[in-house]
Amino acid sequence: ILSLPVPSVFGCNPPPISLNRIVKGQDTVPGEFPWQISLQLNKRHVCGGSLISDEWVITAAHCFYQDLSQYQVLLGVTQLSNPGPQACCLGVKQVIVNPTYAGQTSSGDIALVQLSRRVQYSDLILPICLPDASVKFPPGKVCWVTGWGNLLDLPSPQTLQKLQVPIIDSRTCGELYRTNMGDGLTPRIIKEDMICAGFAEGLKDACKGDSGGPMVCLIGHSWVLAGIVSWGEGCAIKNRPGVYSRLTYYQNWIHRYIPDIQFPGQESMETLICPGIRISLSTLPV
Ligand code: ARG
Repeated sequence: ILSLPVPSVFGCNPPPISLNRIVKGQDTVPGEFPWQISLQLNKRHVCGGSLISDEWVITAAHCFYQDLSQYQVLLGVTQLSNPGPQACCLGVKQVIVNPTYAGQTSSGDIALVQLSRRVQYSDLILPICLPDASVKFPPGKVCWVTGWGNLLDLPSPQTLQKLQVPIIDSRTCGELYRTNMGDGLTPRIIKEDMICAGFAEGLKDACKGDSGGPMVCLIGHSWVLAGIVSWGEGCAIKNRPGVYSRLTYYQNWIHRYIPDIQFPGQESMETLICPGIRISLSTLPV
């Protein structure tokens, strides 16, 4: 997650579209994003991901380029260098890469990872809800992206970072990507299975190493996975916001491999509480 210090913008609760006070990428605290995992290749962090059940993780297709036996999933961690006694490191039983994925900036940058065994949920390890197609992520809605990815010129952070990013509608996003396009560069097309979020002015964005990680939104009382960090031109560059794989597009595909996973709709999101909820139960209507 990258956030350059600028005198700027942007707010928290309740989130009016894009203008208030500054929100830079910040440290998270343990248990704040309990679905976040670190995908590790030979014990090194390569990508983020999200726990979606007690034995499945969802991440980006482009994270897999080595033999499966070399990957592990680290759960329940905030501080990468200091996982803590409640952290859990599991092998990978199976990876299902979406067959439409065809390399950088292509569609289908999504993969399912089956863990070597079921995990025990705890305060620090909980799944994120997946949305069905009725769940709306309107432009301007402020969501969160999290990861241990690059801070550009700084070393990768040890503490999981969070950043607020507003949803950008796909037409606008496509237009941003077409501005100041160098000659000979192939246009970056925002496909149906992609969702953009971030800032036209740049400066704050996900970055290398955040890939595969979650972009989550609060819908009613539930946190829901809206996107998976997929690509961008550079990081935090003006007119080049982050592009994410759009979860609603992949409901059927996910369902095929994990038949018992739920996809709550907009209405049930607003009333029921998905796991990982972090508002006080006493604030809920009885
Ligand atoms: N694809 C890159 C990775 O492998 C980063 C993706 C996000 N980039 C961005 N500018 N939002 O980590």
